Amino acid sequence: MGPVYIRQRCSSCHADDARGPGIVLKMSIVDDDGYTMAPDQSLLPFGHTVRPAHTSAATMGTDRPDAIPGLLVTRRFAPAVFGRGYIDAVLDSEIERVEMEQAMRTDGVSGHINRVTFTSEANPDTRFHQHAHGASNLIGRFGLKARIPTVDDFVADAYQGDMGITSPMRPSELVNAAGVTEDAVPGIDIDIDTVNAVADYVRMLEIPVRRTLNAQGQAAFAQAQCTSCHVPTMHTRANYPIALLADIDAPIYTDLLVHDMGATLADGLDEGSSTSREWRTAPLMGMRTQRNYLHDGRVSTIRAAIEAHGDVESEGNASLNAFHTLSAEDQEALIEFVSQL
Ligand code: HEC
Ligand code: HEC
Repeated sequence: MGPVYIRQRCSSCHADDARGPGIVLKMSIVDDDGYTMAPDQSLLPFGHTVRPAHTSAATMGTDRPDAIPGLLVTRRFAPAVFGRGYIDAVLDSEIERVEMEQAMRTDGVSGHINRVTFTSEANPDTRFHQHAHGASNLIGRFGLKARIPTVDDFVADAYQGDMGITSPMRPSELVNAAGVTEDAVPGIDIDIDTVNAVADYVRMLEIPVRRTLNAQGQAAFAQAQCTSCHVPTMHTRANYPIALLADIDAPIYTDLLVHDMGATLADGLDEGSSTSREWRTAPLMGMRTQRNYLHDGRVSTIRAAIEAHGDVESEGNASLNAFHTLSAEDQEALIEFVSQL
C-alpha cells in the first residue's frame, strides 16, 4: 500500500458488499456561487481526494489544506457494490434510448450520459470489453457521477485511489505531498489476475433478494414518476460473458444517466461531463441494508431522501410534486416499496 491511502480494505468502505461505513472526503475550489468548480485548481496539487493515511515510504498523507479561499470539502458515502454486474451488462443502446426519450420530455427530466475516457491501461483479459487506454466516448456507469465505464476499471481505480495499490491497469503511485514516487514495494503491487478476480467477484454479487413487494407502493412509485429516472429494468447485452446476466431485464432501478439535482446537492466537482450539481440516478438495490441516503449520507429516512429531490432547479421537481399529491396512505406505501427494493 501507499505511499498514501485512505483505508486498508475494500470492506472498510463496502462492509458485507453493502454501503459504508467508510467514506471519502473530496475537495474542490469553487466560485462565488459556492458550488461551480473554479477553473484554477492549482492550490490542490495532489488532487481532490483526502488521503489521510501514509505508509513509511511517505511522511504525510494528503490532508485537507487549511484556509484556501473557496475550498469546499464534501463527503461521499461508499455505495453498495452488489448488483453491479447487472449495471456492467446493460446495453449501451438501452442507455442511449432512455437518454433520447428524456430529451423529448417537457417535465424537466433530462438526464445525460457521462461520456468518459478509459484511463486505465488495457486489460489483457478482453472477455468483457476491449477498451484501450485513452479510448473515448464510453458510457460512464460507475461512481456517484458515473465517471467510470466498466467494473474492472473501477476495481483498478479503487485499489490505486483508495488503497495506494498499483496494478497493471493503474501502474502509477499517487502524487503526494512527500514527493515520493514509490511505496515500500518497488514496481507494480498486484497482478492483473488479482484485479480480474476481484472484478469477477463484484460482477457476480447478486442484488439482495426482494421478497413480496408492496403492490400499492409500486403503483404509487410509478404514479409519482419516480420511474422516469429510477427505471425499474434495463436490458442487458446478449454477449455478456456471465450467462445469468446476459439478455435479461436487469432490475436496477436506475437509468445510469446523470441528472441536475440543483445546488443543494452539489459538491463542486466536475467528473467527465458530469458537473457539480449532477449525480447518477442512485440504483435502488438492497435498500433495506441502508441506514442513510444520498451521495453523502446526509439524511436517514427514505422520505427525507425523496424531499431532497426538490431543489428549485432540480430535475426531480415534477416527480416530487407528484409525490406530494399522493394520499398519505399511498406515500407510506411508496416508502415501504422503496425500502423493500
Ligand atoms: C475509503 C473508502 C473506500 C475503499 C477502501 C474502497 N471504496 Fe469503493 N467506493 C468508495 C466510494 C466513496 C465510492 C463512490 C466513488 C465515486 O463516486 O467515484 C466507491 C465506489 C465503488 C464502486 C462503484 C459502485 C457504483 O455504484 O458505481 C465499486 C465497484 C467499488 N467502489 C469497488 C471497490 C473495491 C473493489 C475496493 C477495494 C479494492 C474498494 N471499492 C475500496 C469508497 C471506497
Ligand atoms: C430526475 C431524476 C430522478 C427522479 C424523477 C427521482 N429520482 Fe431519486 N434519485 C435521483 C438521483 C440523481 C439520486 C442521487 C442523489 C444524490 O445521491 O445526491 C436519487 C436518489 C434517490 C434515493 C436515495 C438512494 C440512496 O442510495 O441513497 C432514493 C430513496 C430515491 N432517489 C427515491 C426516489 C423516489 C421515491 C422518487 C419518486 C418520488 C425519485 N427518487 C425520483 C434521481 C431521481
